[in-house]
Amino acid sequence: MEPLSHTSVLLPEALHWLEVRPGGLYVDATLGGAGHTQAIVGQGGRVVGFDQDPQAIARVQALHLPHLTLVQANFRDLEPQLQELGIGAVDGILADLGVSSFHLDDPKRGFSYRNEGPLDMRMGSGESTAAEVVNTFEVDELADILRIYGEESKAGRIARAIVAARPLTTTTQLAEVVRKATGFREAGHPARRTFQALRIYVNDELGALKALLAASERVLKPGGRLVVISFHSLEDRVVKHFLRDSVVLEPLTKRPVVASPKEQQENPRARSAKLRAAQKVGGTP
Ligand SMILES: C[S@@+](CC[C@H](N)C(=O)[O-])C[C@H]1O[C@@H](n2cnc3c(N)ncnc32)[C@H](O)[C@@H]1O
Repeated sequence: MEPLSHTSVLLPEALHWLEVRPGGLYVDATLGGAGHTQAIVGQGGRVVGFDQDPQAIARVQALHLPHLTLVQANFRDLEPQLQELGIGAVDGILADLGVSSFHLDDPKRGFSYRNEGPLDMRMGSGESTAAEVVNTFEVDELADILRIYGEESKAGRIARAIVAARPLTTTTQLAEVVRKATGFREAGHPARRTFQALRIYVNDELGALKALLAASERVLKPGGRLVVISFHSLEDRVVKHFLRDSVVLEPLTKRPVVASPKEQQENPRARSAKLRAAQKVGGTP
């Protein structure tokens, strides 16, 4: 099933904080459906768009957008990839983190606990699948992953249930094991945190984010802007702490910018979105 679309989150806010200028050069580190990128181009910017997912790159390629250079790579490799393109510095970097609706809506990718699919969860192509993790890791390793990346209070119980139920091959099998292990009391799906944890681990999402933040200190022109939209507290904490400790990037947003009640109502994904912006010290680019 080819999913229909992805609605860009905090679009006007991202453009505002990025301070897009005609002729400026911007990195969209998370191209996805290219919603943010199209808006940047619409304001006269040129974009280098990264996505580690070949399907996302192919989808955007088919749009034949002007002023856009596509890079299929993990944004953790921002610096060497830009160097390969002969680009030394950019005016702004935008990262709209995590998976897109294209991922969640496609059962074959294995991100959704609601639809039956293989336990994959890879955004790119290189990493281990979620199936390898749940079927081969020790109980303690699994429990750590669920506790750290899912902030799951029943991590030990779920990890033991997973090991007892092996082999697990599909998303719905895993969701059912978690549901049985945690009881039936919870509001929302009890497997939500387990799926989040596995996805973050499989894609080393926090490691990639830290590498991107570090690279942005070097890659931005003086006065250039960094805008990051995160979707859970672990990501937001990484961004907040990085900006607090950076001597190169100055936070522009004291508190994270959140979606308006209207946007939150229209797009459930926007409810957890938090935008933080920063500027490289050293004057106007
Ligand atoms: C939330 S979507 C972006 C949506 C986009 N801003 C839009 O308006 O359509 C995130 C995208 O970033 C990609 N992505 C996530 N982590 C990445 C990483 N470390 N390197 C490259 N791409 C990544 C995902 O494959 C996904 O397509």
